[in-house]
Amino acid sequence: MMNTPDRTAGPSGRTRLRKLVSFLSAGVLAVGMSVAISAPADAASTLGASAAERGGRYFGAAVAAGKLSNSTYVNILNREFNSVTAENEMKWDATEPQRGTFTYANANRIVNHALGQGMKIRGHALLWYQQQPGWARNLSGSDLRNAAINHVTQVATYFRGKIHSWDVVNEAFEDGGSGARRDFNLQRTGNDWIEAAFRAARAADPGAKLCYNDYNTDGINAKSTAIYNMVRDFKARGVPIDCVGFQSHLGGSLSGDYQANLQRFADLGVDVQITELDVAQGSNQANIYAGVTRACLAVARCTGITVWGIRDNDSWRGGENPLLFDASGNKKAAYTSTLNALNAGGTPTPNPTPTPGQVDTNAWYVLVNRTSGKALDVYNLSTADGGRITQWTRNSGNQQQWQFVDSGGGNYRVKSRHSGKVLDVSGFSTANGGAVVQWADLNGTNQQWRLAGSSGGYLRLINRNSNKALEVQGASTADGANIVQYDDWGGNNQQWQLSRVG
Ligand code: G3I
Repeated sequence: MMNTPDRTAGPSGRTRLRKLVSFLSAGVLAVGMSVAISAPADAASTLGASAAERGGRYFGAAVAAGKLSNSTYVNILNREFNSVTAENEMKWDATEPQRGTFTYANANRIVNHALGQGMKIRGHALLWYQQQPGWARNLSGSDLRNAAINHVTQVATYFRGKIHSWDVVNEAFEDGGSGARRDFNLQRTGNDWIEAAFRAARAADPGAKLCYNDYNTDGINAKSTAIYNMVRDFKARGVPIDCVGFQSHLGGSLSGDYQANLQRFADLGVDVQITELDVAQGSNQANIYAGVTRACLAVARCTGITVWGIRDNDSWRGGENPLLFDASGNKKAAYTSTLNALNAGGTPTPNPTPTPGQVDTNAWYVLVNRTSGKALDVYNLSTADGGRITQWTRNSGNQQQWQFVDSGGGNYRVKSRHSGKVLDVSGFSTANGGAVVQWADLNGTNQQWRLAGSSGGYLRLINRNSNKALEVQGASTADGANIVQYDDWGGNNQQWQLSRVG
């Protein structure tokens, strides 16, 4: 249990309080300074956390269900990444091996792991010329078209609400200079098969971003231009498309117009994502990883990067050692260059803490405590009413992201991105030490907080019902310390930095 000093006792209590205040001020100042110097917001120590600090971007990995029992693999996944793509488990042959019979066990192993870790999920891939089940390969014409659209509808419906982005269609254009569609069974059902797939996906899961995904599109060339023209046409005609994936399976060099190519797609009004990045081992590997990362950060609508595997021995490119970790799980030079590029990537979009009047109600913030440098966190990824609110080492996961919902009169509810629930003083307590939990948003006065400015851009959150401040109990610096309310005495443990991540 946490020790909460008794700040309400008689004269000796007040003396102890004064001592506590001066002790905290001195000690906390030192902590605050060392945080500012040694761990500024722009020097995160993992790929996912750093990407999140760059405007809420993600850094993901392709994951194989069969490797989730390997502890080295899972430790790296959980530590470094905040998004996953199923490497094979959501493909047509895996999810509908017989017509109308859907199997999701392996996909769900990945989905459940990701959800348990607060990671985003990229769905890959609803329709593709490879990895079609045998029964579909033998179909043609309207029978194939109907089967394909039914597949999109069924799979996207099954995973509805869990997928951040779907690769609705994968690799539908020819390589080389023709700019033509790839000639295969789905294309032969009519040129409109791609837009039919996107419309079906939108109807099945309106919350997922819908992507077209392809390779050899890493610069401005005939293939990428053909895709560009398709996206422009879709946008003009209202075909639902939200994003374009650039696989980025790269060799020994990076196209000089890589960033410009991403930007021209973004300028069409879609997000762009690096979806399957891997780079052949060689003297240029670390530079190319850094170059791709910098390009993504330079394009405002480049929302995330996914590497196609974790360790070199997990890669489909056997012998090319194209990933960020070696077979033993050690970080490679390419890892370091990627993390450095992320950390150097411009102003971290946790911009300066807004003043009370400047909070953006569309944004997501990590609330970092001034005493501990730790983040306000939904403990153990709870989604339940009454779930504990604690502080935890910052990882910028959804359980550490909060939105300010306007209640009027300068009061806000503080909504969790993970659970959709809001900060709540349990039982309308007005007592010091009253627990702060999450609860369904009822817009109760015990769920409303007024923002008060403190020095250095920090804010206090004052509860409307109790008039007490949100604080880390006992000025703890430990992971898992309780968040409670207490008299608004201006302590550093009552001060929070709003670090914007989305
Ligand atoms: O699991 C079976 C195993 O039981 C069997 O013994 C073995 C025999 O070859 O095959 C295993 O399945 C393989 C599967 O990977 C899992 O390792 C398939 O044959 C093999 O074709 C499959 O390759 C995947 C490939 O897509 C084709 O689906 C790769 O893992 C995967 O990395 C690769 O990913 C693609 C993207 O989806 C699209 N963009 C290109 C990218 C690289 O090719």
